Amino acid sequence: MRIKDFYSYRKPGRRVSMVTAYDYTMASLAAASGVDALLVGDSLAMVMHGMENTLTASVGMMSLHTAAVARAAGGKLVITDMPFLSFRKGVGPAMDAAEELMKAGAQALKLEGVDGHEDVIERLTGSGIPVMGHLGLTPQYVHGLGGYRVQGRDAAGAAQIKRQALRLQELGCFALVLECVPAELAREVTGTLRVPVIGIGAGPHTDGQVLVLQDLLGLYDKAPSFVRKYMDGRAAVTAALNAFDSEVKSGAFPGKDDHENDKRDKELAGAARL
Ligand code: KIV
Repeated sequence: MRIKDFYSYRKPGRRVSMVTAYDYTMASLAAASGVDALLVGDSLAMVMHGMENTLTASVGMMSLHTAAVARAAGGKLVITDMPFLSFRKGVGPAMDAAEELMKAGAQALKLEGVDGHEDVIERLTGSGIPVMGHLGLTPQYVHGLGGYRVQGRDAAGAAQIKRQALRLQELGCFALVLECVPAELAREVTGTLRVPVIGIGAGPHTDGQVLVLQDLLGLYDKAPSFVRKYMDGRAAVTAALNAFDSEVKSGAFPGKDDHENDKRDKELAGAARL
């Protein structure tokens, strides 16, 4: 998928699917699936590093994970979050951060909010860097928002989100993530914008959906309640680990066929027969 393909998702009946990816192995699985785009989200601070919120994600951390994902991404679009404050210290430092993330393998960048960093978004889009906006529940603002709550419930909050969404479009963003807003507000914003709106916890009326991969696989123990789990990953992984543990303890593993040298000998013998 390319940036221009995102616009085709404005057609009725088409939807974009996006998942987070933070490492090579999971990205290679997502790359082999039908999912359209991979987001190296700053949620990796919580999901990969066990932090309480996303504020501890740094440019270095995002670059390292972006590089791992990019190595596995195949043709999938890789979008990376600009982490907390990396785009709030002026255009120069923001461009340095953007450079590091793009050189690590990002093809587009996602920034939370808009007020106070319009100049950065304009410079990024003007430099040919595709920018995805992120409004509604913006986790980098968690302390100001007073926790992880649905945004835009009252008239003033809804008006602010609509204004900001239009502003992001004007500044050249190619898409918008709308997180945890009422479904009707998401429908209105989606209907107003020309660029696709990708929802998370924002109901069914957007142009697509994004989820944290470890949430949808049932692997992360702190997934939000709106997430649909497509498998019970924690139970599956725990069962595999317990099977390994009991086979090691019983002596069933490694068996004769598992012995690396035996396997290598057989492979070499097979090759010699060719
Ligand atoms: O960081 C992240 O994973 C995100 C998604 C939840 C949209 O921003």
